Amino acid sequence: MPRRPRSGDEAAAAAAATVDLTAVREIVAGFEEPASDLVTVLQRVQDRYGYLPAPVLEEVARCAGVPPSRVYGVATFYAQFSTVPTGRHKVRVCQGTACHVRGGEEVLRAVQRELGIAPGETTPDLAFGLETVACLGACSLAPVMTVDGRVFARMNAGRVPAVLATVAPSPGQGQGSDAGPPGEGQGGEGGEG
Ligand code: FES
Repeated sequence: MPRRPRSGDEAAAAAAATVDLTAVREIVAGFEEPASDLVTVLQRVQDRYGYLPAPVLEEVARCAGVPPSRVYGVATFYAQFSTVPTGRHKVRVCQGTACHVRGGEEVLRAVQRELGIAPGETTPDLAFGLETVACLGACSLAPVMTVDGRVFARMNAGRVPAVLATVAPSPGQGQGSDAGPPGEGQGGEGGEG
């Protein structure tokens, strides 16, 4: 699925230009006192949008009746919030020593090929963000990658397309599949948050 990669400001600008603010209004309206519970408001808004673009933060401020600077302050203070697109599905490929010697680099190349992006980038439809990590704490299962925290053990390049297909690739679709993954998908992500 080749796509032109985007990262940082380019992806943020493209997404912000088309953002539908209806959900912001609905979420804020669900709070009796949104101004005194901004962290929870922003958590729910970020769950909905995947990140917190500027128009969304400004709409939160307007609906909650607080200055935009206060909303920006909360959004930038806490590490759990992101104001740039990170991809609805987080793909992490381990490049630690144990994974590297067992083919982790080939797995990474296959992921890059499949998504059309490099580590640190997000696909243009904001479906996937790709990162490399130094160790996922599952060295005995090397090489390892995760998708939304779900561990896929003893990976190889040939399995990458099927692993990525276990999550919804486009907006409006669910956050994953109940179907079993191809191979040794595991329930948790050891030693990495
Ligand atoms: S080096 Fe990859 S899980 Fe530890």
